[in-house]
Amino acid sequence: MILLNRLSYNFGSNWALKDINLEVGKGEFVFLTGHSGAGKTTLMRLLYGALPVTRGQATVAGFDLHSLKKRKIPELRREVGVVFQDFKILTNRTVFENIALALIVRRMPKSTIDKRVRAIIRALGLEKKTYTLCERLSGGEQQRVAIARSMVVNPKLILADEPTGNLDFDLSMHLMDIFRQFNTHGTTVVMATHSREVLQTIPEARIVHLEDGCIAEPPAHLFMEDE
Ligand SMILES: Nc1ncnc2c1ncn2[C@@H]1O[C@H](COP(=O)(O)OP(=O)(O)OP(=O)(O)O)[C@@H](O)[C@H]1O
Ligand SMILES: [Mg+2]
Repeated sequence: MILLNRLSYNFGSNWALKDINLEVGKGEFVFLTGHSGAGKTTLMRLLYGALPVTRGQATVAGFDLHSLKKRKIPELRREVGVVFQDFKILTNRTVFENIALALIVRRMPKSTIDKRVRAIIRALGLEKKTYTLCERLSGGEQQRVAIARSMVVNPKLILADEPTGNLDFDLSMHLMDIFRQFNTHGTTVVMATHSREVLQTIPEARIVHLEDGCIAEPPAHLFMEDE
């Protein structure tokens, strides 16, 4: 699903990613860990075409990102569901509209859109907010809208950047369960997280640890059980 070969990325003189080699197979669940500034978001942004691959090679869902033309990026994004660290939902639209948008641009019939949007709204416990403008939602509710939007298209690959960062424990656990269900049905998931509790929800997942832009051994404390 993802194949990276000596992928590097710089912001001016700052190399945010250095020589990343990584292979993620179809159906895998991968946690991306690392300190703030290690390069997790930069890697995610490269993977869905928000930053250009300027050095090294990257193939995602069959697309060679190095040679990918700008006008082909929407085709890549059709296969990839993304949960951004800062949500990027449309605050002047309702919950329903935000989630439906991804299906509308795919020209799905209205009845199918309605069914799928309602199902995912139910799964994420947002029924009461279906027609609320997103600017009136709490941070955690907005985050759930962002997650719903990434999932509603049944993507081959979900890239989720700290998707449970604003949520309380119970809700994070519930959402991890939903991510896991998607994964069980064959969706590949790459999730950035700082939280050991989140890592522990999917013990069989692979951990890819970034340190200062390089892939490194995950530190032992990530695996330790809570006292
Ligand atoms: N738009 C940008 N312009 C310049 N430098 C950037 C930009 N975005 C990120 N960086 C730099 O790239 C490096 C990696 O940042 P990145 O956002 O990928 O880290 P991260 O691992 O996602 O951190 P966090 O856990 O805080 O989200 C940092 O040194 C950061 O300052
Ligand atoms: Mg980040």
